Amino acid sequence: MAFEIKMPQLGLTMEEGTVAKWLKQEGDTVKKGDVILEITTDKLTSEIESEADGVLLRIVAQEGEDVPVKGLLGYIGQPGESVGETAAPTTAAPAAVPAAQETAKPDGPVRVVVIGGGPGGYVAAIRAAQLGGQVTLVEKNKLGGTCLNVGCIPTKVLLHAAESLHEAKEMAQLGIQVMVQNVDWNRVQQKKTAVTNQLVSGVTGLMKANKIKVIEGTAEFADRSSVTVTKKDGSRETVPFDKAIIATGSVPAVPPIPGISENANCVDSTGALAFEKIPKSLLVIGGGVIGIELATAYSQFGTKVTVVEAMPKLLPMMDGELTAMLRKKMEANGVTILTEAKVQSVEADPAGAKVQVETNGEILSYTAEKVLVAVGRRTDTAMLGLDRIGIAHDRGRITVNEKMETNIEHIYAIGDCLGKVMLAHVASAQGEVAAENAMGEEAVYDGKTNPSCVYTNPEFAGVGLTEEKAKEAGISYRVGKFPLMANGKALIMNGGEGMIKFLIGTEYNEVLGVHILGPRATDLIGECALAIGMEATVEDIYATIHAHPTVTEAVREAALAATKRAIHIPNK
Ligand code: FAD
Ligand code: NAI
Repeated sequence: MAFEIKMPQLGLTMEEGTVAKWLKQEGDTVKKGDVILEITTDKLTSEIESEADGVLLRIVAQEGEDVPVKGLLGYIGQPGESVGETAAPTTAAPAAVPAAQETAKPDGPVRVVVIGGGPGGYVAAIRAAQLGGQVTLVEKNKLGGTCLNVGCIPTKVLLHAAESLHEAKEMAQLGIQVMVQNVDWNRVQQKKTAVTNQLVSGVTGLMKANKIKVIEGTAEFADRSSVTVTKKDGSRETVPFDKAIIATGSVPAVPPIPGISENANCVDSTGALAFEKIPKSLLVIGGGVIGIELATAYSQFGTKVTVVEAMPKLLPMMDGELTAMLRKKMEANGVTILTEAKVQSVEADPAGAKVQVETNGEILSYTAEKVLVAVGRRTDTAMLGLDRIGIAHDRGRITVNEKMETNIEHIYAIGDCLGKVMLAHVASAQGEVAAENAMGEEAVYDGKTNPSCVYTNPEFAGVGLTEEKAKEAGISYRVGKFPLMANGKALIMNGGEGMIKFLIGTEYNEVLGVHILGPRATDLIGECALAIGMEATVEDIYATIHAHPTVTEAVREAALAATKRAIHIPNK
């Protein structure tokens, strides 16, 4: 029976490949392991090895043909063996290539208006300007948006200061005697403001350098070809456009918990970034990314922190096994964590706030100086006039296709205002896609390489499928794990706390997901995102030499462990 050569699945999302070149011809003898053909996917060329000894009996898919995954490419068998007309190709007909769509550029520069100057909007504005657009950006508050002003950057300044304090206290272990006297909170806040201001002024400079007109004010759609901007002094300006990109972001959600809105000690993330002093105690409602990052920062500053999370686990989107390790570590550092727990009410208290929490059918009462409400964010689209011009949305979350186009062809939306994945790097990636499409190029957004990073101690990062998601999707996978205790650099840096976990497909060894808890996890994840983007196999990871001594060696070891050939741990 002749052996069928089939199109392999070289990555999680690969649906088809193109036969680039046959390296063996019909009648050639082939041995198992010989490279017989090359295939290409959108991003790379891969060599396909023979899985049988024999003769290449027939080439079914010719060079240049697109073949779906598992589609038939050819047959290997014994000389003279017939594959017969009936054993005919299961290959689908070559996929029809859609006729190139030419988006005609209007005469003169394309007028692009971008609403919102966060990491989605300002990146979209720059990309549109690079492509020759005449760009106007409208921002109602400060350039840089949530990310630079009250999000990613200020939280990381606090986390960096908190971690530095923690490290200073641990230095005795390295033989360095440091006396930590106190934390000058004003200086920490000044540093936060200085970093933020420097980055915002960098964005202002980029706007100028790219000849982008910035209007300070609040934009709303007047009709399908103009926005009205209301400026801070009350004056109004109409901005006509050929293309519009909505990038208005999100604001903190306020849950309907009695007593929250009335109590000045209940704050959202913006409030928690700017406390007048380090609170003695903090109760965090929501064990998501904001809750866990700020719990990490303040617990290291010495605050008694309690986290109340409604779901059975913290950080619901992250790998469960590593999240459980992080939880243990946080608890060992003195953070109280309640899961499957709900805040019932908040009352005034001389100490700050009294919080009633229901868990396991019991009501527990906590008193805290401050309460951080971090239960998610909602899109900031209410004032845009979406319904006035008929832009489709789901309760304020704007609906788009993979080109970031709304239902109105020349109006795009990106970032947090879509209400899906609320991350700065996602907003920026979508911004580039929207700008390119607006300027007549063809681009699509694909989130498969999007890493999720949580800046805890140790750091936590993941890309691709979690084990939970792989199970849910019924994908057959193998796991490779490498404890950081066995990595020299991690041992030096944090005593070897953490683990790296690879998920690979059982049939082709393709990288399905990588999850890292450990020092510099948020940097290490870049290599893993690239691997997923390039549809790499685990062999590609371990064929790459990783420098010694680095934590990146542990990435390679976890990849090796997935095929039971780790060097520095026993393979089970
Ligand atoms: P935004 O950054 O929210 O920008 C939208 C802008 O639009 C705002 O400046 C707003 O003023 C303006 N705007 C709104 N409506 C109008 C209007 N009608 N007219 C004119 N202007 C308008 N993400 C990460 O990737 N990494 C992190 O570490 C991280 N940390 C975070 C920490 C915190 C505390 C928070 C709150 C968020 C964090 N995020 C992080 C999320 C990240 O900040 C957002 O995903 C990102 O800022 C979204 O970018 P955006 O451009 O879509 O929206
Ligand atoms: P989130 O969606 O990450 O977490 C909210 C958490 O609150 C969830 O775990 C949810 O189960 C819980 N929750 C909801 N209602 C609750 C209730 N009544 N009681 C107790 N728990 C409740 O949202 P979060 O933390 O507010 O962050 C908002 C966004 O900001 C996130 O989507 C994230 O993408 C982004 N962000 C990203 C960061 C990063 O990339 N490092 C850092 C901080 C924020």
